[in-house]
Amino acid sequence: MPRPSSRPQRSRLGRLGSSKETVVHEGNGASAEVVPVPAELDRSRVPAHIACVMDGNGRWASRRGLQRTEGHAAGEEALLDVINGGLEIGVSWMTMYAFSTENWRRPPDEVRYLMGFNESLLLRRRDELHEKGVRIRFAGRRDWRVPRRVLRRMDESAELTQGDRRMTLTMAFNYGGRAEIVDAVRQLVAEGIAPDKVDERAIRRHLYWPDMPDPDLVVRTSGEHRISNFLLWELAYSELVFPDVLWPDFRRAHLYEAVVEFQRRTRRYGGVDQ
Ligand code: FPP
Repeated sequence: MPRPSSRPQRSRLGRLGSSKETVVHEGNGASAEVVPVPAELDRSRVPAHIACVMDGNGRWASRRGLQRTEGHAAGEEALLDVINGGLEIGVSWMTMYAFSTENWRRPPDEVRYLMGFNESLLLRRRDELHEKGVRIRFAGRRDWRVPRRVLRRMDESAELTQGDRRMTLTMAFNYGGRAEIVDAVRQLVAEGIAPDKVDERAIRRHLYWPDMPDPDLVVRTSGEHRISNFLLWELAYSELVFPDVLWPDFRRAHLYEAVVEFQRRTRRYGGVDQ
């Protein structure tokens, strides 16, 4: 299977500037390309939490005459490179949309592949993530459709990395933003909460990970401008960036561009500029 170029594809977000600092592009280990952190990226204002919708694997594959599943496989290198880029610039939380509650509607072969792929990805990558101080967590429904062995791998990975604090990587798996809110409300009802006690704090306390800060920045690749049921509660005030790059071609350089774009924005949270 042809691998994507390790050279980052130029996105619409603008040119990368020169930099004083460099990192080694780890990729699949085949090359050690130096990837500059853009000089305009202000390290003192790096988003604490970046969430990514890893979109475009299918299109990347079909443009090359490959199966959609090969696009997902190629997305692994992008995933690891983006996590390493996040670590390099000091991002503390990253959340990756790996499988939605709606993705069961995909062809059965692709769904089966994605279950096995996510399982094997954890097996292949968890030790390296653990060594780098990455705590792996999962957000989503543990329903009967998720194979037991996948759940086992998820539990093992979470357990292995539970003490790691350099970054918390949340894999949104069998995740839906509406389902998360429904699950929170169900819990509140089950606890017998009085209607006048239902407020935003009560709902937040019942989200999958109440300690997770809301994403500051959401990146959806592939040029699609949609949220697709991702973190509906949490991204009420997130900045959204939509690079026109398919996920398997996405690299840390694109992440840095998205962070620079984020830093150009003014966040008002409903107020006015200070
Ligand atoms: C949302 O778009 C996108 C996702 C839920 C991401 C799905 C990602 C994968 C299946 C690949 C994961 C890859 C790795 C490397 C772990 P959508 O297609 O569900 O929604 P839409 O129909 O609105 O575009």
